[in-house]
This record gives sequence, C-alpha cells and structure tokens, in this order.
Amino acid sequence: MNGEILLAEDVPSSFVDVVREAFTTRPGPVFALALSGGDTARRCYEHLAAALPAPWWTDIELFWGDERCVPLDDADSNHALAREALGPVFATVRSVHPMDCSVGADPYDTLLRSRPALDLVHLGLGPDAHTASLFPGSPALHAPAARLVVDNEDPHGTNPHRRMTLTYAGIARARSVVVTVEGAAKHEAMTRVIAGDPTAPAARIDADSLVWIVDRHALDAPSPR
Ligand code: 6PG
Repeated sequence: MNGEILLAEDVPSSFVDVVREAFTTRPGPVFALALSGGDTARRCYEHLAAALPAPWWTDIELFWGDERCVPLDDADSNHALAREALGPVFATVRSVHPMDCSVGADPYDTLLRSRPALDLVHLGLGPDAHTASLFPGSPALHAPAARLVVDNEDPHGTNPHRRMTLTYAGIARARSVVVTVEGAAKHEAMTRVIAGDPTAPAARIDADSLVWIVDRHALDAPSPR
C-alpha cells in the first residue's frame, strides 16, 4: 500500500487535525478541498464545521472527489451531504464547485487542470475496497493516464447511480490525500489495501502525501466471539 497509517481513537477528530495542518501550511491564499461522500465523511464534516475558525472558511474552495449522477438536492448527492453536514458554514466558503453529470466529465477535468493542484482530497473506503467512485472492475480503473476526472459506474451494482469521479491520476495530482476508515465493516477492505491486493481499487491510490486515518476496529481482526 502507499502512504502511512494513522491509528485514530476518533477518526473525525483526527481528520480535523489533518485538515487544520494542511490549511495552515497551504502554499497559496486559498485552500482547495475535495470532499467525499459516505457516512464517515458526513461525521468528519460535522466535526470540521464545528472546529475550524469561521474566518478560515472564506479562504476554502470546495470541490468533490466523486459524485452520484442525481440532482444536487437529492438525498443521495454528495453535494447535499456536504451542505447538510457543514451547515451554516457552507454558505460562507469562498467558492463551491459541484460535479455536474449532465455536462459530462470534461468540464470538471478542465477545471482541475486549469488551476493549481487541490490542496487536500478526502476519500473514504468502501467495504468492497473502492474509494471515491473507483469501483472493482469498473472502467475508471483503466482511465487514460492524462484524465483527472471521468464518468463511471459500479458494474456489480453494489454502489448505486452513475457517477463522476477523480481518477488515480486526479487523486495523485493533489498536494495531499487523506482516507478516513472506521468500523469493523471496513476490516476486510483495509486488510486488502495493506496487502496491496491488486483487485482492491483503494490499494492503488498514491500521492505525494497520503494518510490513512483508521480506527482500531477497521485495522485489527475482529475480536474472537
Ligand atoms: C460515495 C463515496 C464513497 C464512500 C465510501 C465510504 O460517493 O459513495 O465517495 O467512496 O467514501 O463508500 O462510505 P462510508 O463512510 O459510508 O462507509
């Protein structure tokens, strides 16, 4: 596997610490943060909204690492998840760049290519060892090396909706990447990542700075019954 593991008692709290560090050491005036979907991400953003000083948000630009191809106000949308979890601070950020499946992936690919690297990409880990919307056996795993963003979907039907997602190259282009993993349900996937299982999409992500924030339950074998 690539990157380093940070064993966390409380994953959302450690996530906030990583974001705080990345924000205060950012090279430019703004902080470009790409958000994830999922329940772990929701808890991370609730903590982030409560923890970051209010003025910081006016220097933060929000992007997404992946999105479901549903309306932005749909309950399944990662945009809606972020808006709900961040609460009032969502309206104070410097800019918001939602992924819009209706225009295809090219505009988002161009958007990212036309600006400095994202400062931090936040990812989750699915029980099937997907991350972002890079699903096992899906076309995005073999996207052209030059592509940062592509359309995708789960050929196994486990994860709903057509998607838009960062590719491995899109993830690797970020200044830093943080993956949050919590709960025994992720133990098998995390074990496959650590083993470098080539069939585990998340095992193939890499970036200059890559941190896996993992709790004990996801890292250790389940306690014997
Ligand atoms: C998505 C997410 C996805 C998520 C993982 C973990 O759009 O579904 O981006 O990659 O991060 O599935 O989700 P949980 O934290 O809910 O297990």
